[in-house]
Amino acid sequence: MSHRGAFIVIEGLDRSGKTTQTETIQKRIQEAGKEVVCIKFPDRSTSIGKMIDSYLRSQSNLDDHVVHLLFSANRWELASTILAHLKQGKVVLCDRYAFSGIAFSVAKNLPPINLAWARAPDASLPSPDLTLFLDISPEAAQSRGGYGEERYEKEGMQRRSQERISDGKGGGKGTWIIVDAGRDMSAVTEEMWVHIRPLLDGLDTPVGRLWD
Ligand code: TMP
Repeated sequence: MSHRGAFIVIEGLDRSGKTTQTETIQKRIQEAGKEVVCIKFPDRSTSIGKMIDSYLRSQSNLDDHVVHLLFSANRWELASTILAHLKQGKVVLCDRYAFSGIAFSVAKNLPPINLAWARAPDASLPSPDLTLFLDISPEAAQSRGGYGEERYEKEGMQRRSQERISDGKGGGKGTWIIVDAGRDMSAVTEEMWVHIRPLLDGLDTPVGRLWD
């Protein structure tokens, strides 16, 4: 049986270094001679992604449940693409996934969104083989240049979502690794690489499904 590619997710708060690390790891995987596809959620290029983008920029208002479902639908839009890349043996490296979806929705103040409800729309999505959670305190994240203008880039929201981001980790058979992202970038990259490198030759197990 030919090996499929590995599905790797990088999660973390805004300013945790997620996007920079994703780019660095992408280059490393390429230098190792492997094909890699990078995906970022939300994918703001689709029609659903454009609605999410407008909401995040506070150009439109949506009920919290509606926006939660849009974030999930945005993942479903790309689910078959992710599976196709994995089948072709490519590594799929993904900046944020369902764990962010749950954490940010459940972290909202009022009315609270129920965890079981929040997890449900992502059930059966491709499950990552490895999730690297870049852990940084909201204070340290903010000191890296402050949060931007978007709706969730506020200390309270970041702190509450940090507390909830592992709520999804019990699901799926993949590995969940917490990486201390408060250190310098290269130390964080090296630790991430230790977990990623063994997956580069592919896997012979089927892709799992959230939240089996
Ligand atoms: P970004 O800054 O990585 O583009 O993410 C935009 C914001 O959207 C960020 O504050 C996290 C939030 N988010 C959700 O609320 N639900 C989700 O499902 C995802 C993927 C992101």
